[in-house]
Amino acid sequence: MSPRKRILSGIQPSGAIHIGNYFGAIENWVRLMDDYECFFTIVDLHAITISYDPKLLQRRVWDAVLDNMAAGLGPKKCTLFIQSHVPEHTELCWLLNCVTPLGELNRMTQFKEKSEQERENVTAGLLNYPILQAADILIYRADAVPVGEDQAQHLELTREIARRFNGRFGGYFPEPATLVGRGARILGIDGAAKMSKSLGNAIGVTEDPDAIWEKLRPAKTDEARKRRHDPGEPDRCNIYSYHKLATPEAERAEIARGCRGATIGCIDCKKIFHRNLMAVLDPVRERRQALARDPEAVREALRQGAERARRVARETLDGAKKLMGLL
Ligand code: TYM
Repeated sequence: MSPRKRILSGIQPSGAIHIGNYFGAIENWVRLMDDYECFFTIVDLHAITISYDPKLLQRRVWDAVLDNMAAGLGPKKCTLFIQSHVPEHTELCWLLNCVTPLGELNRMTQFKEKSEQERENVTAGLLNYPILQAADILIYRADAVPVGEDQAQHLELTREIARRFNGRFGGYFPEPATLVGRGARILGIDGAAKMSKSLGNAIGVTEDPDAIWEKLRPAKTDEARKRRHDPGEPDRCNIYSYHKLATPEAERAEIARGCRGATIGCIDCKKIFHRNLMAVLDPVRERRQALARDPEAVREALRQGAERARRVARETLDGAKKLMGLL
């Protein structure tokens, strides 16, 4: 039997995970665990590349672990670990620093956006962020990386770094493919920007159902539907794009007809979405509560995850150092 292909992906501990993360990435990760050997990491070292509060970071890392485990990333089916618990990532990052052209880093969209927000505190860490991301991936010699569309540029750079390393020192790293899930780019409830914790337009995966309804109720729909009897166009409506994530196809077709014929209103449409979303999120929220009651089991899962990850990471790192001529 040929060995299973390997994937790695990561998520920043930047607050409770939202449905953009869930449908854009995590749901896909859970599905892929049956067919791939999977490594998933909470990237705490990436989170310190911008201004942050150390006490808050600890809590956020823990929250991210609980959220991801509750979403289905159990230690039995994948290797889940905290990035800083596997120091080999930062060591490989240094090696890759020495094959990455500066110009490539300067043109990264995320760097440009973040350095705009961080004006007073643009660090070398922020510039080098994508090299650490490349190290996260290449250290497991991953075949593929499941992410949302916003990570495509970083993955292109990862492949470029792999090519440069291979060209200079001999074929060593596979060039990982990008696997985009069905929610490649989920908009926030403002219907304007990508859903993102920092923009305040996110629906949290483990948020209280009533709080989620309070966000959905005033959320933007098709502007053409100013009054209840105005017909609308589902393809212009952000709520309809959410239905594609959680509502079965037959019910969705009915909603589309109802919207075009103005037989259902936007509030009805949102209620249906809320009900279907809760069917997905209720079990996640319940699992999270159970995990929070047993922190020792969570810590043990993380210990095991880091140990497994380190075994693989160490081997790749040793091979890379040898190829680079380090004694
Ligand atoms: P992060 O933490 O911003 O996001 C985690 C995952 O969620 C996806 N995502 C979305 N997908 C669709 N619509 C959205 N609105 C949305 N918001 C987030 C992201 O594409 C991502 O897949 N740099 C990475 C973390 C990282 C990483 C890695 C990823 C570090 N090392 C190695 C892959 C492999 C990031 O900031 O993701």
